[in-house]
Amino acid sequence: MKQRLAIYPGSFDPATNGHLTIIHRALRLFDHVVVAVAQNARKGSLFSIDERQELLREALKGVPRVEVDSFRGLLVDYIRERKADAVIRGLRAVSDFEYEFQMANANRKLDPDFEAVFLMTGEDYFYISSQMVREVASLGGDVSGLVPVCVQRALMEKYPKRLTEIGRMKSKGS
Ligand code: PNS
Repeated sequence: MKQRLAIYPGSFDPATNGHLTIIHRALRLFDHVVVAVAQNARKGSLFSIDERQELLREALKGVPRVEVDSFRGLLVDYIRERKADAVIRGLRAVSDFEYEFQMANANRKLDPDFEAVFLMTGEDYFYISSQMVREVASLGGDVSGLVPVCVQRALMEKYPKRLTEIGRMKSKGS
């Protein structure tokens, strides 16, 4: 029987617990899931493509049937190259819908065989985004519970000065 392969593409800058939940749920629907970090240069990325892949691999260590990869260029070309059956995308709120609808239609225009499966994010994670996590971490906020431990550690390494300053302010009681 043919193995069903899904691609879960995204920026993952960085991966959150919301992303991990979607991956685990996708594994119930597909035989294999490829988590694909998009290489398209976006200004203001916090983590490099390699770092994002490393963090995903660490967060998914021991999880069978998952592969972490990256791709450059059009998603439809990557899907064709990998001979994938569908793309997985998470939907958090109504606000995500318009963007996803536009992207799915653009992809279907580029490739009529394009198929996407949308998984609704659970209530625990519907408010989490990578952007929100980056901002909270940059301001010294606690992101535990929102991201895997390896990502939390990596965020502390990216913002050591800020965290040290805040730690000092707290200990002074200001
Ligand atoms: O996590 P994100 O940033 O919402 O992911 C967006 C992503 C990477 C899936 C999307 O930007 C994408 O597919 N980029 C590849 C380029 C492409 O194919 N663009 C045309 C479709 S809109």
